[in-house]
Amino acid sequence: MASLLALLLLFNLASLHVSAGIVLEDGYTVSTVIDGHKLNINPHSILPRFGSSDFVVLDSAGSAFYTVSFPISKESAVKPLSGDGVHEYSDGESGSARFNKPGSFAVDLKGNVYVADTKKKSRVIRKISDSGVTTIAGGYSEKPGREDGPAQNASFSDDFEISFVPEICALLISDHGNQLVRQIGLKAEDCASGSKVATGAISIWVLGLGLSCLLGFIVGIAIRPYIIPRTARLQPPQFQQDMEALPNPSGETSTDTLLRHQKRSC
Ligand SMILES: *[C@@H]1O[C@H](CO)[C@@H](O)[C@H](O)[C@H]1NC(C)=O
Repeated sequence: MASLLALLLLFNLASLHVSAGIVLEDGYTVSTVIDGHKLNINPHSILPRFGSSDFVVLDSAGSAFYTVSFPISKESAVKPLSGDGVHEYSDGESGSARFNKPGSFAVDLKGNVYVADTKKKSRVIRKISDSGVTTIAGGYSEKPGREDGPAQNASFSDDFEISFVPEICALLISDHGNQLVRQIGLKAEDCASGSKVATGAISIWVLGLGLSCLLGFIVGIAIRPYIIPRTARLQPPQFQQDMEALPNPSGETSTDTLLRHQKRSC
């Protein structure tokens, strides 16, 4: 027991530099992947965009969103998504919509971007989708508040952040100004666990499996007559396992075995 403790202590001392309550763990590396100076953007936060190979970058001070495809490197192209640097609240086409220094955003499984636009004239939650930018909550509320209910009539404080929780298909709002956590349920189609990419990959895989089965059968049936005239018989299924393990006593051709394998794996 004592030797085990000594061993553990030795291991700890070897892998960590311990000093006065600060524990430095080694083994990580830092590298710069986006340089905002060159691109004239100031990344405030970045999140993966599900269903695509992009990240969404928010430049809060510049009231603009960008996408970057991964793997990110300094050579990655940064494309504008929405917002043009004019601090304003207007919806519509994503190319012409404007934001007011949004504080945070979230991305659902379909790739829609939800924006916490929290400045004085716009305590709202907005959505950037393929069809443009809309306001989904707070659209009717003119004053800060803590009203729940139909989302357009709900009100928020001047200071809140949002996150997306796929497990409950909802946005969670940490409403700092009101000291509340609030929730907005999203549409089921925006939380379908198969994103566009995943569903595509799976259907191609299933199609491939089906095709290989079909091909196996066709090849098996086509070459069978040319191999050897067989002794006609019906195999009792319970013997199939044994027959396979033993040398073939019944004159069964290798294509029969192939066909049987094919049948079982499909
Ligand atoms: C929401 O606000 C609109 C516009 O002020 C109003 O017409 C409507 O009655 C409100 N709905 C509810 C449920 O309060």
